[in-house]
Amino acid sequence: MDWSKWIRQLHRWLSIIFTATVVANFAAMAMGPPPAWIVYSPLIPLFLLLFSGLYMFVLPYAARWRGGPTRERTGSA
Ligand code: HEM
Repeated sequence: MDWSKWIRQLHRWLSIIFTATVVANFAAMAMGPPPAWIVYSPLIPLFLLLFSGLYMFVLPYAARWRGGPTRERTGSA
């Protein structure tokens, strides 16, 4: 598995973890004021999502700058 596929998988799973922490926030709030660690827990996966997402965003541009093959040129997924 190449590096960019690995990052995409990481981003996909981080999004699930992030969603779970947001749901946990709503669940905890229904039971009264939640503890600070629950309130701030989405920030960890969100922060990692930001970097893996930005990496994926620049990938096609970086391939073009380097003059290498892009997904559009090769037609591969
Ligand atoms: C925080 C800033 C974020 C940035 C900069 C970002 C950026 C990106 C980019 C560039 C892609 C690839 C799109 C493509 O196929 O060309 C992507 C895919 C995706 N993002 Fe994000 N994202 C962010 C946050 C999130 C969040 C908060 C979620 C959901 C909770 C999320 C869920 C996903 C999913 C499920 C995919 C598809 C992954 C796959 O193809 O397997 N992202 N994101």
